[in-house]
Amino acid sequence: MTAVLFSEIANIFIFSKLHKGFKMEPVKVTDNIYWVGAVDYDIRDFHGYLTPRGSTYNAYLVVNGDVVTLIDTVKHGLEDELLSRVAKIVDPSKITQVVSNHAEMDHSGGLPVIMKRIGLEKPVYASSMGVKNLFGQFHYAGMNLQTVPEKLDLGGEDMVFLETRMIHWPDSMFSFLPSQGVLFSQDGFGMHLAAPERFDDEVDEKVWGPLALNYFANILTPYTVQIGKLLEKVAADGLLAQIKIVCPDHGFVWRKNPGRIVELYSRWVQQKPERKAVIVFDTMWHSTEYMARELTDYLACQGIETRYHNLKNTHRSVATTDCFEAAAILIGSPTINNQMFPSVADFLTYVKSLKFKNKIGAAFGSHGWSGEGAKLVQAELKTMGFEVPSDEVRIQWVPQEKDLGPLKALGQTVAEAVKKLS
Ligand code: FEO
Repeated sequence: MTAVLFSEIANIFIFSKLHKGFKMEPVKVTDNIYWVGAVDYDIRDFHGYLTPRGSTYNAYLVVNGDVVTLIDTVKHGLEDELLSRVAKIVDPSKITQVVSNHAEMDHSGGLPVIMKRIGLEKPVYASSMGVKNLFGQFHYAGMNLQTVPEKLDLGGEDMVFLETRMIHWPDSMFSFLPSQGVLFSQDGFGMHLAAPERFDDEVDEKVWGPLALNYFANILTPYTVQIGKLLEKVAADGLLAQIKIVCPDHGFVWRKNPGRIVELYSRWVQQKPERKAVIVFDTMWHSTEYMARELTDYLACQGIETRYHNLKNTHRSVATTDCFEAAAILIGSPTINNQMFPSVADFLTYVKSLKFKNKIGAAFGSHGWSGEGAKLVQAELKTMGFEVPSDEVRIQWVPQEKDLGPLKALGQTVAEAVKKLS
């Protein structure tokens, strides 16, 4: 009994040391700007997007004497983590004002609790849509929500604002401190990765590059036109040249080479297809799987980089990231009760919402009698604006060698189209 009690006390002591020593420290970004966010090591489902390495919700504190400004907050439930980090710099009740760059719950869910703790009368500045969205989300008249002025005094240095509507919500806004060249870019230039490191120069691009692409493909693809225009505008206005540090709401602070992530975004907004095909399918009794494997081999033999994703064991957002850079997406579905397979419908719904451009589509599938699955996939690919160069290929029952002619022809047609497009 004594040993058990001792062990529990020891655990509490060790946990509290870890809690205070590791999780709760602020991180200095510049002389008066601190990262005070939260690290969510355990999140795996981010509104339907797989986050195998967790995420961070970045918030920042700008301290200028008595004027203390909090920029963005964290997800509900992680308020103590943010406030504990702030408390290492200044008493949280001394926070003068809050800027909310983006109303989505991962950055604003903690706002009601934080405002209650620091003082409901303190102003919360947001874009005009941000004020509406925050009110709509929290129905909370107690908060002092205000639309951002043209310039906000942060105690001797001014903050200016740039509305970035639909990048990626109507309320989205960037904040910029010209005096230090620091841009607070909310979701822009972010990625989902929970790690103790806070800065781009602490982690190799081989690690962060695929995560940044995964984030862009799954979150920002529908807004590539708006992002492209924004990048052109900030370059033309001279703002881009002034940016020295980029502080996003997820992932790393870009302090060493912010130009690199901007360069990648400039490329990704073009949605330029690569010589690559992705096969995404589900299967009931392995027949559609067999077709997927044959197609994979045909395309690879034609010199096309080919990826194979069985939706039974591949998450929709993982397959989607591969699709982002591919010229062709080939989707296989069996037929179940006159419909396509539910997981395939799920995948198509997800991909449709991302509004991919410059894609070739193809459909295939095995069936027992009626065979609507592949036909429905084919029709959906057309409504998504894909170039569909061939009829769908359907094989009844279990495919045999003698049935494979149309499948080979489909592979050939897609390979030729990919070579033309990429
Ligand atoms: Fe990270 Fe749109 O929220």
